[in-house]
Amino acid sequence: MFIKFPKRSDCKESDVTPESLYLSRRTLLGASVAGLALGSLPRWASAAEAARYADVEAGNAPSWFAGKLPGTQWGAVTVKGEAITPYKDATHYNNFYEFGTDKGDPAQNAGSLKTEPWSVVVDGEVGKPGRYALEDFMKPYQLEERIYRLRCVEAWSMVIPWIGFPVSALLKQVEPTSKAKYIRFETLQDPKSMPGQRSGFALIDWPYVEGLRLDEAMNPLAILAVGMYGRELPNQNGAPLRLVVPWKYGFKSVKSIVRISLVEEQPKTTWQSIAADEYGFYANVNPTVDHPRWTQARERRLPSGLFSPNVRETQMFNGYSDEVASLYTGLDLRKNY
Ligand code: MTE
Repeated sequence: MFIKFPKRSDCKESDVTPESLYLSRRTLLGASVAGLALGSLPRWASAAEAARYADVEAGNAPSWFAGKLPGTQWGAVTVKGEAITPYKDATHYNNFYEFGTDKGDPAQNAGSLKTEPWSVVVDGEVGKPGRYALEDFMKPYQLEERIYRLRCVEAWSMVIPWIGFPVSALLKQVEPTSKAKYIRFETLQDPKSMPGQRSGFALIDWPYVEGLRLDEAMNPLAILAVGMYGRELPNQNGAPLRLVVPWKYGFKSVKSIVRISLVEEQPKTTWQSIAADEYGFYANVNPTVDHPRWTQARERRLPSGLFSPNVRETQMFNGYSDEVASLYTGLDLRKNY
Protein backbone atom coordinates (compact mmCIF):
# COMPACT_ATOMS: atom_id res chain seq x y z
CA MET A 1 0.00 0.00 0.00
CA PHE A 2 1.41 3.40 -0.95
CA ILE A 3 0.60 6.27 1.40
CA LYS A 4 0.92 9.77 0.03
CA PHE A 5 2.46 11.98 2.70
CA PRO A 6 2.54 15.77 2.69
CA LYS A 7 5.06 17.38 0.36
CA ARG A 8 7.50 18.15 3.19
CA SER A 9 8.48 14.49 3.40
CA ASP A 10 8.83 14.14 -0.35
CA CYS A 11 12.33 14.03 -1.76
CA LYS A 12 14.86 11.99 -3.61
CA GLU A 13 17.49 9.84 -1.93
CA SER A 14 20.19 12.14 -3.28
CA ASP A 15 18.64 14.99 -1.22
CA VAL A 16 19.18 13.24 2.08
CA THR A 17 22.32 11.24 1.50
CA PRO A 18 25.67 13.02 1.72
CA GLU A 19 27.26 13.22 -1.72
CA SER A 20 30.12 10.94 -0.69
CA LEU A 21 27.66 8.23 0.37
CA TYR A 22 25.48 8.76 -2.67
CA LEU A 23 28.48 8.48 -4.94
CA SER A 24 29.89 5.49 -3.08
CA ARG A 25 26.48 3.86 -3.44
CA ARG A 26 26.80 4.25 -7.19
CA THR A 27 30.29 2.76 -7.00
CA LEU A 28 28.94 -0.09 -4.90
CA LEU A 29 26.09 -0.71 -7.30
CA GLY A 30 28.63 -0.81 -10.10
CA ALA A 31 30.75 -3.16 -8.03
CA SER A 32 27.86 -5.49 -7.37
CA VAL A 33 27.06 -5.73 -11.06
CA ALA A 34 30.72 -6.57 -11.64
CA GLY A 35 30.48 -8.99 -8.72
CA LEU A 36 27.49 -10.66 -10.34
CA ALA A 37 29.55 -11.29 -13.42
CA LEU A 38 32.30 -12.78 -11.30
CA GLY A 39 29.86 -14.74 -9.15
CA SER A 40 31.37 -13.16 -6.03
CA LEU A 41 28.45 -11.16 -4.69
CA PRO A 42 28.25 -10.52 -0.99
CA ARG A 43 25.49 -12.65 0.54
CA TRP A 44 22.91 -9.87 0.67
CA ALA A 45 23.57 -8.21 -2.64
CA SER A 46 21.66 -10.54 -4.91
CA ALA A 47 18.34 -9.99 -3.15
CA ALA A 48 18.62 -6.95 -0.91
CA GLU A 49 19.35 -3.32 -1.62
CA ALA A 50 22.07 -2.86 0.97
CA ALA A 51 24.27 -1.37 -1.74
CA ARG A 52 22.07 1.73 -1.50
CA TYR A 53 24.15 2.72 1.54
CA ALA A 54 27.85 2.88 2.27
CA ASP A 55 29.66 0.36 4.47
CA VAL A 56 26.67 -1.85 5.19
CA GLU A 57 27.81 -5.20 6.56
CA ALA A 58 26.65 -8.41 4.95
CA GLY A 59 23.66 -9.85 6.73
CA ASN A 60 22.32 -13.34 6.95
CA ALA A 61 18.77 -12.75 5.80
CA PRO A 62 16.22 -15.52 6.23
CA SER A 63 14.74 -16.62 2.92
CA TRP A 64 11.32 -15.06 3.65
CA PHE A 65 12.98 -11.63 4.01
CA ALA A 66 14.97 -11.85 0.77
CA GLY A 67 11.83 -13.13 -0.97
CA LYS A 68 9.85 -10.03 0.01
CA LEU A 69 12.48 -7.44 -0.92
CA PRO A 70 11.89 -7.33 -4.70
CA GLY A 71 8.45 -5.78 -4.10
CA THR A 72 9.77 -3.19 -1.64
CA GLN A 73 8.86 0.40 -2.26
CA TRP A 74 12.22 2.14 -1.80
CA GLY A 75 12.29 5.65 -0.38
CA ALA A 76 8.52 5.63 0.35
CA VAL A 77 9.11 8.31 3.01
CA THR A 78 12.27 10.34 3.47
CA VAL A 79 13.73 13.18 5.54
CA LYS A 80 14.50 16.23 3.51
CA GLY A 81 17.99 17.72 3.65
CA GLU A 82 19.30 15.60 6.54
CA ALA A 83 22.05 13.04 6.07
CA ILE A 84 21.40 9.40 6.80
CA THR A 85 23.38 8.29 9.85
CA PRO A 86 26.31 6.05 8.87
CA TYR A 87 25.47 2.36 9.27
CA LYS A 88 28.36 1.87 11.69
CA ASP A 89 26.88 4.42 14.16
CA ALA A 90 23.33 3.11 13.85
CA THR A 91 24.52 -0.41 14.66
CA HIS A 92 27.19 0.29 17.30
CA TYR A 93 25.53 2.96 19.44
CA ASN A 94 22.45 1.18 20.72
CA ASN A 95 20.05 0.87 23.59
CA PHE A 96 18.96 -2.72 24.10
CA TYR A 97 19.19 -3.39 27.82
CA GLU A 98 18.61 -7.12 27.36
CA PHE A 99 22.21 -7.15 26.08
CA GLY A 100 23.79 -4.68 28.51
CA THR A 101 23.53 -1.03 29.45
CA ASP A 102 26.56 0.41 27.58
CA LYS A 103 25.99 1.69 24.07
CA GLY A 104 28.47 -0.84 22.64
CA ASP A 105 27.05 -3.85 24.54
CA PRO A 106 24.23 -4.75 22.13
CA ALA A 107 26.58 -4.97 19.12
CA GLN A 108 28.97 -7.05 21.17
CA ASN A 109 26.47 -9.38 22.86
CA ALA A 110 23.40 -9.68 20.62
CA GLY A 111 25.00 -12.34 18.41
CA SER A 112 23.63 -14.87 20.92
CA LEU A 113 20.03 -14.01 19.99
CA LYS A 114 18.49 -16.74 17.84
CA THR A 115 16.02 -15.09 15.46
CA GLU A 116 15.12 -18.20 13.45
CA PRO A 117 12.69 -19.78 14.07
CA TRP A 118 10.68 -16.86 15.52
CA SER A 119 7.03 -16.67 16.32
CA VAL A 120 4.68 -13.85 17.19
CA VAL A 121 1.56 -14.22 19.33
CA VAL A 122 -1.39 -11.95 18.56
CA ASP A 123 -3.99 -11.99 21.31
CA GLY A 124 -6.44 -10.04 23.45
CA GLU A 125 -9.30 -8.07 21.92
CA VAL A 126 -8.97 -9.36 18.34
CA GLY A 127 -11.19 -11.30 16.00
CA LYS A 128 -8.23 -13.32 14.73
CA PRO A 129 -5.89 -14.29 17.55
CA GLY A 130 -3.07 -16.75 16.93
CA ARG A 131 0.56 -17.72 17.12
CA TYR A 132 2.30 -17.21 13.82
CA ALA A 133 5.69 -18.28 12.51
CA LEU A 134 7.32 -15.00 11.45
CA GLU A 135 7.36 -16.00 7.77
CA ASP A 136 3.57 -16.55 7.90
CA PHE A 137 3.01 -13.42 10.00
CA MET A 138 4.77 -11.39 7.27
CA LYS A 139 2.90 -12.86 4.30
CA PRO A 140 0.15 -10.23 3.91
CA TYR A 141 2.44 -7.21 3.99
CA GLN A 142 4.24 -5.29 1.31
CA LEU A 143 7.50 -3.80 2.56
CA GLU A 144 8.32 -0.11 2.32
CA GLU A 145 11.45 1.85 3.05
CA ARG A 146 10.83 4.68 5.51
CA ILE A 147 13.68 7.07 6.23
CA TYR A 148 12.88 8.51 9.66
CA ARG A 149 14.50 10.60 12.36
CA LEU A 150 15.06 8.63 15.57
CA ARG A 151 15.19 10.81 18.72
CA CYS A 152 16.22 9.15 21.99
CA VAL A 153 14.98 10.57 25.29
CA GLU A 154 18.69 10.84 26.19
CA ALA A 155 18.92 13.75 23.67
CA TRP A 156 20.80 12.10 20.81
CA SER A 157 19.32 11.47 17.38
CA MET A 158 19.92 9.68 14.10
CA VAL A 159 18.32 9.32 10.64
CA ILE A 160 17.63 5.68 9.81
CA PRO A 161 16.37 4.02 6.63
CA TRP A 162 13.98 1.35 7.97
CA ILE A 163 12.22 -1.38 6.00
CA GLY A 164 8.82 -2.37 7.32
CA PHE A 165 5.07 -2.12 7.02
CA PRO A 166 2.42 0.02 8.74
CA VAL A 167 1.02 -1.16 12.07
CA SER A 168 -2.38 -0.20 10.61
CA ALA A 169 -2.01 -3.01 8.03
CA LEU A 170 -1.54 -5.51 10.86
CA LEU A 171 -4.58 -4.13 12.70
CA LYS A 172 -6.66 -4.57 9.57
CA GLN A 173 -5.58 -8.22 9.41
CA VAL A 174 -6.24 -9.13 13.06
CA GLU A 175 -9.55 -7.26 13.40
CA PRO A 176 -9.58 -5.51 16.81
CA THR A 177 -12.88 -5.81 18.67
CA SER A 178 -14.82 -2.72 19.80
CA LYS A 179 -13.25 -3.16 23.27
CA ALA A 180 -9.68 -2.68 21.99
CA LYS A 181 -8.35 0.73 23.01
CA TYR A 182 -4.59 0.14 23.17
CA ILE A 183 -1.95 -2.05 21.56
CA ARG A 184 0.70 -3.66 23.76
CA PHE A 185 4.02 -5.06 22.54
CA GLU A 186 6.30 -7.45 24.38
CA THR A 187 9.99 -8.30 23.73
CA LEU A 188 11.38 -11.84 23.94
CA GLN A 189 12.26 -13.04 27.41
CA ASP A 190 15.18 -15.45 27.20
CA PRO A 191 17.85 -15.06 29.90
CA LYS A 192 19.93 -17.78 28.20
CA SER A 193 20.63 -15.56 25.17
CA MET A 194 20.06 -12.17 26.82
CA PRO A 195 22.74 -11.45 29.43
CA GLY A 196 20.96 -8.29 30.65
CA GLN A 197 18.03 -10.47 31.77
CA ARG A 198 20.41 -12.59 33.87
CA SER A 199 21.90 -9.59 35.64
CA GLY A 200 20.96 -9.22 39.30
CA PHE A 201 21.37 -5.43 38.94
CA ALA A 202 18.82 -4.87 36.17
CA LEU A 203 16.14 -2.32 37.05
CA ILE A 204 13.82 -3.72 34.45
CA ASP A 205 11.07 -6.17 35.28
CA TRP A 206 11.38 -8.29 32.10
CA PRO A 207 10.01 -8.62 29.50
CA TYR A 208 10.33 -5.11 28.05
CA VAL A 209 6.81 -3.81 27.33
CA GLU A 210 5.58 -0.85 25.31
CA GLY A 211 2.23 0.36 24.07
CA LEU A 212 0.30 2.87 22.00
CA ARG A 213 -3.24 4.17 21.94
CA LEU A 214 -5.09 2.48 19.10
CA ASP A 215 -5.43 5.71 17.10
CA GLU A 216 -1.68 6.33 17.44
CA ALA A 217 -1.00 2.82 16.17
CA MET A 218 -3.31 3.49 13.21
CA ASN A 219 -1.30 6.59 12.20
CA PRO A 220 0.43 5.84 8.87
CA LEU A 221 3.85 6.77 10.32
CA ALA A 222 3.79 3.90 12.86
CA ILE A 223 5.55 0.87 11.38
CA LEU A 224 6.79 -2.56 12.31
CA ALA A 225 10.32 -2.83 10.94
CA VAL A 226 12.06 -6.00 9.77
CA GLY A 227 15.04 -4.33 8.11
CA MET A 228 17.25 -1.25 7.85
CA TYR A 229 19.83 0.04 5.35
CA GLY A 230 18.48 -2.31 2.69
CA ARG A 231 19.06 -5.49 4.72
CA GLU A 232 17.40 -7.37 7.56
CA LEU A 233 17.67 -5.84 11.05
CA PRO A 234 20.93 -6.57 12.83
CA ASN A 235 20.21 -8.27 16.18
CA GLN A 236 21.32 -5.22 18.17
CA ASN A 237 18.68 -3.12 16.38
CA GLY A 238 15.83 -5.40 17.37
CA ALA A 239 15.77 -8.33 14.95
CA PRO A 240 13.66 -9.79 13.63
CA LEU A 241 10.70 -7.44 14.30
CA ARG A 242 10.54 -4.06 16.07
CA LEU A 243 8.24 -1.11 16.39
CA VAL A 244 9.22 2.32 14.97
CA VAL A 245 7.18 5.39 15.99
CA PRO A 246 9.29 8.34 14.82
CA TRP A 247 7.41 11.15 16.59
CA LYS A 248 8.02 9.56 20.01
CA TYR A 249 11.17 9.08 22.06
CA GLY A 250 13.11 5.99 21.03
CA PHE A 251 12.18 3.93 24.08
CA LYS A 252 8.67 3.47 22.63
CA SER A 253 10.22 1.60 19.66
CA VAL A 254 10.30 -1.82 21.32
CA LYS A 255 12.65 -4.42 19.86
CA SER A 256 12.54 -8.17 19.12
CA ILE A 257 8.77 -8.44 19.52
CA VAL A 258 7.17 -11.81 20.37
CA ARG A 259 3.71 -10.74 21.48
CA ILE A 260 1.22 -8.14 20.28
CA SER A 261 -1.94 -7.73 22.34
CA LEU A 262 -4.99 -5.56 21.80
CA VAL A 263 -6.19 -4.43 25.23
CA GLU A 264 -8.87 -2.35 26.92
CA GLU A 265 -6.66 -0.66 29.54
CA GLN A 266 -3.54 1.47 29.02
CA PRO A 267 -0.63 -0.99 29.27
CA LYS A 268 1.95 -0.59 32.03
CA THR A 269 5.11 0.14 30.08
CA THR A 270 8.67 -0.64 31.11
CA TRP A 271 10.14 2.83 31.57
CA GLN A 272 6.97 4.19 33.12
CA SER A 273 7.13 1.39 35.71
CA ILE A 274 10.76 2.27 36.51
CA ALA A 275 10.36 6.07 36.77
CA ALA A 276 6.89 7.42 35.97
CA ASP A 277 7.95 11.01 36.69
CA GLU A 278 10.69 10.80 34.03
CA TYR A 279 9.20 8.59 31.31
CA GLY A 280 5.54 8.91 30.45
CA PHE A 281 3.23 6.69 28.42
CA TYR A 282 3.00 9.20 25.55
CA ALA A 283 6.72 10.07 25.25
CA ASN A 284 6.09 12.42 22.35
CA VAL A 285 9.23 14.32 21.33
CA ASN A 286 8.67 17.80 22.76
CA PRO A 287 11.31 20.54 23.03
CA THR A 288 9.19 22.45 25.58
CA VAL A 289 8.84 19.66 28.14
CA ASP A 290 12.20 18.90 29.71
CA HIS A 291 13.26 15.64 31.25
CA PRO A 292 13.56 16.34 35.02
CA ARG A 293 17.34 15.91 34.74
CA TRP A 294 18.16 17.51 31.35
CA THR A 295 16.80 19.77 28.65
CA GLN A 296 14.95 18.39 25.65
CA ALA A 297 15.25 21.66 23.70
CA ARG A 298 18.33 20.43 21.85
CA GLU A 299 19.78 17.14 20.65
CA ARG A 300 23.08 15.71 19.43
CA ARG A 301 22.81 14.32 15.90
CA LEU A 302 25.12 11.31 15.63
CA PRO A 303 27.90 10.95 14.74
CA SER A 304 29.03 13.65 17.13
CA GLY A 305 32.22 14.30 19.10
CA LEU A 306 33.96 16.78 21.33
CA PHE A 307 35.10 18.95 18.41
CA SER A 308 31.98 18.48 16.27
CA PRO A 309 29.12 18.18 18.78
CA ASN A 310 26.55 18.43 15.97
CA VAL A 311 23.92 19.98 18.23
CA ARG A 312 20.55 20.96 16.75
CA GLU A 313 17.20 22.22 17.96
CA THR A 314 14.70 19.52 18.86
CA GLN A 315 11.58 19.67 16.68
CA MET A 316 8.06 19.26 18.07
CA PHE A 317 6.94 15.68 17.46
CA ASN A 318 10.45 15.15 16.03
CA GLY A 319 9.44 17.09 12.90
CA TYR A 320 6.26 15.09 12.25
CA SER A 321 3.69 17.61 13.56
CA ASP A 322 1.81 17.76 10.25
CA GLU A 323 1.22 14.03 10.40
CA VAL A 324 0.50 13.49 14.13
CA ALA A 325 -0.41 16.71 16.01
CA SER A 326 -4.14 16.13 15.49
CA LEU A 327 -3.91 12.93 17.59
CA TYR A 328 -3.34 15.12 20.65
CA THR A 329 -5.86 17.92 20.19
CA GLY A 330 -7.11 19.00 23.61
CA LEU A 331 -4.56 16.90 25.51
CA ASP A 332 -2.27 18.69 27.98
CA LEU A 333 1.13 17.53 26.72
CA ARG A 334 2.81 18.82 29.88
CA LYS A 335 0.78 16.42 32.01
CA ASN A 336 0.65 13.70 29.40
CA TYR A 337 4.41 13.59 28.66
N1 MTE B 1 13.57 -2.42 23.21
C1 MTE B 1 13.97 -3.35 24.12
N2 MTE B 1 13.40 -4.55 24.11
N3 MTE B 1 14.92 -3.08 25.04
C2 MTE B 1 15.53 -1.86 25.12
O1 MTE B 1 16.40 -1.65 26.00
N4 MTE B 1 15.65 0.42 24.20
C3 MTE B 1 14.84 1.47 23.60
C4 MTE B 1 14.29 1.06 22.22
N5 MTE B 1 13.78 -0.28 22.26
C5 MTE B 1 15.12 -0.85 24.19
C6 MTE B 1 14.16 -1.19 23.21
C7 MTE B 1 15.54 2.75 23.48
S1 MTE B 1 15.81 3.59 24.94
C8 MTE B 1 15.90 3.28 22.29
S2 MTE B 1 16.52 4.86 22.18
C9 MTE B 1 15.80 2.52 21.04
O2 MTE B 1 15.33 1.18 21.26
C10 MTE B 1 17.15 2.47 20.38
O3 MTE B 1 17.10 1.81 19.15
P1 MTE B 1 18.45 1.57 18.34
O4 MTE B 1 19.42 0.89 19.27
O5 MTE B 1 18.09 0.73 17.17
O6 MTE B 1 18.95 2.95 17.95
